[in-house]
Amino acid sequence: MRTQVGIVGAGPAGLMLSHLLHRAGIDSVIVENKSREYIEQRVRAGVIEHWAREFLIETQVGARLEREGLIHRGINFAFDGNLREIDFHALVGRVITIYGQQEVVKDLVAARLAAGGAILFEAAETSVQDFDTDRPKIRFTREGRAETIDCDFIAGCDGFHGVCRPSVPGGALAFYDRVYRFGWLGILSQSPPPHEELIYAFHERGFALYSMREPMVSRLYIQCDPDAAADNWPDSKIWEELHLRLGGTAKLVEGEILQKGVTPMRAFVTEPMQYKRLFLAGDAAHIVPPTGAKGMNLAIADVRVLAHALDAFYRERRSDLIDTYSATCLKRVWKAQRFSYWMTMMLHRLNRKNDFDMRRQLAELDYVTSSKAAATSLAENYVGLPFE
Ligand code: DHB
Repeated sequence: MRTQVGIVGAGPAGLMLSHLLHRAGIDSVIVENKSREYIEQRVRAGVIEHWAREFLIETQVGARLEREGLIHRGINFAFDGNLREIDFHALVGRVITIYGQQEVVKDLVAARLAAGGAILFEAAETSVQDFDTDRPKIRFTREGRAETIDCDFIAGCDGFHGVCRPSVPGGALAFYDRVYRFGWLGILSQSPPPHEELIYAFHERGFALYSMREPMVSRLYIQCDPDAAADNWPDSKIWEELHLRLGGTAKLVEGEILQKGVTPMRAFVTEPMQYKRLFLAGDAAHIVPPTGAKGMNLAIADVRVLAHALDAFYRERRSDLIDTYSATCLKRVWKAQRFSYWMTMMLHRLNRKNDFDMRRQLAELDYVTSSKAAATSLAENYVGLPFE
């Protein structure tokens, strides 16, 4: 097999990259180790930044998002018995859309397949080779046969645990990371959310988030021990914590729990996001803690930059945009790290033995929800910073 850009991973980054390249007349093949069913059902966050919504629509993969996505003008913070709104639309004239990541994945898979795109699901033993030459290769086995794809470039869109990043020779990349001592237990519930917009709740028992997918489907999270398995959380205990942490600021209706899982929280960045002819995009290059839901937005931002750079290379034989791919992306990545870190440290219970942080956090929440300057800063970051 031969293609121009070999892509490892069929998550939002790999699929969107393949879609954008196709629109630019550039050939790609996606190699994915999971099945189509698996990637389409994988539950992740569901906040789409303002520009990302427009970008998906403009590139013809946003029709269902436009119909079914829920436009939110702002978010709420619950703390100390208060419920306070940050109105993004009033503050910065932009909004967010609630639409599950797996819905974006389904739309992109459908668009790629309809256009005759190649997504090779259930590939095993994938490896990337020779990306320090101008003939990189992706090798894998599928249906018992060994296969090789010869390409001009490889895009590693295979997530934090993927094979691409560790294939780069030792010492060529720097890693920056921070592991948080807490995780999120997330559930999907057949019940209406407590409010029409998201509620981020700070409580002495820990953080909770009340989001949604549809009018009768809630997506709810609670801060938890990152090592505790979701099965150790009986449904009754989850609802008890969700009620307590809402602190009487809204009314929560219980429903059948359709799915539950624990997500550890970490922050991580690779620099640079490229080694010769191997590019890293999305979670393969960086992880943000989930507070603020920046993960998929960053992945889409990366491949937007990458597709543009590859287009300039093939169309005009220019390599300057390829050479600046990493630096361009990292500016946005570090600002998203900063914002996600700030949201995380404002909203999670940090130290149960010392209430200094709790009092500082309550002051911060009061400040950010009462100062127009502070609320505007939160709003412009939450809806997504503009592109340079
Ligand atoms: C959702 C997830 C987040 O991490 C967040 O900050 C907001 C919403 C969600 O899954 O809906």
